[in-house]
Amino acid sequence: MQIFKKKEALQTAVSKLKSQGKTLGLVPTMGALHEGHLSLVQNAEKICDQVVVSIFVNPTQFNNPQDLEKYPRGLQKDIDLLETLNPNLWVFAPTAYELYGENVISEEFDFGSLGEVMEGKFRAGHFDGVGTVVKMLFEIVKPHKAFFGQKDYQQLQVIRKLTKDENLPVEVIGCPILREANGLARSSRNELLNPTQRENAAFIHQTLLKSRDLFGTKSVNYITDWVNAQFENHPFLKLEYFEIAEASSLKKINRKRKGQDYRAFIAAYAGEVRLIDNIALN
Ligand code: PAJ
Repeated sequence: MQIFKKKEALQTAVSKLKSQGKTLGLVPTMGALHEGHLSLVQNAEKICDQVVVSIFVNPTQFNNPQDLEKYPRGLQKDIDLLETLNPNLWVFAPTAYELYGENVISEEFDFGSLGEVMEGKFRAGHFDGVGTVVKMLFEIVKPHKAFFGQKDYQQLQVIRKLTKDENLPVEVIGCPILREANGLARSSRNELLNPTQRENAAFIHQTLLKSRDLFGTKSVNYITDWVNAQFENHPFLKLEYFEIAEASSLKKINRKRKGQDYRAFIAAYAGEVRLIDNIALN
C-alpha cells in the first residue's frame, strides 16, 4: 500500500495513473476507520481502477475545541485495516500544515438553505470547514469520482452543491448507511460511548424506523411531537433535533406532497457524545 504524506508525491502518482487512462476514486475520511468507511472504499473499488483514501482530522469543521481534542485518532491502525482490505489502496494522510499552510481557517461558502438547517444551525461554521477541506482534497487529488456516506446526508447534499457551484469536475456518489447489529449507525464517535450508552444509542435508529412507519398515516406535526415525547424522559439520550425534510433541498415540511422524497433526521447526545442518523421515509 502506498502512503502519501505530501501532496506533490500524490499528484505525481495521480498524473501517471491518469496518463494510463485509468479512473481514480476518492474516499475522504477523518480516520478512526470502521465498516461504514470500508463500505465506501468497496463501493469505490467496484467502479474505479484506483482508490485513494484520505485520512485527515480537519480542524476547521469542529465548532467545539473539546470535540476536536477527543476525536479518536490512530493512523497506524487505520493503515493496517485498509491493508487487509486491499493492499493496492493509496492513502493520503497530510498534516494540517501540508493542506492549509500557516492559516488554518475556513473559506466561506453560501450553501443557501442547505447550510442553515440542522447541522448548519447547531454547528456554526461546520459546513464551511467541510467545504474548505473537501474542495482542497478535490483540487489536490483530482478524482473522477468521490464517495460519501448517506450517514452524513446533509453533508452529502452540501458537497453536491459545492461541486456544482464551484464547477469541480468530480462525480459525487452517495453510499448507504452501515449499521451495528443493534441498528446504531456506525460512527467513529461510537468508540467514545461506554457499553450502556452504545446499547441505548440504538434507540435513535429505532425511533427513526417508527417515524417512518407513522409517516404513512400521521401528520408531520404529530410525528415530531411523538418523537420529542419519546426522548423527553429517556435516561441516557438527549435529543438536539428531530426533523422531517424534503430529501434534496432539506427544507422542513409541514405537509407531504405527492411525488416528493422525504427523510427524517435526528441529532442526539449520549452523555457528551453527539450522534446523528437519518432515514428515507418513502
Ligand atoms: P468521517 O466522519 O470520517 O466520514 C467519512 C465518510 O464516511 C463520510 O462520507 C461519511 O458519511 C461516511 N460514513 C461514516 N459513517 C458511515 C456509515 N455508518 N455508513 C456509511 N458511510 C459512513 O465525514 C467526514 O469524515 C468529514 O466531514 C470529511 C468529509 C472527511 C471532511 O473532513
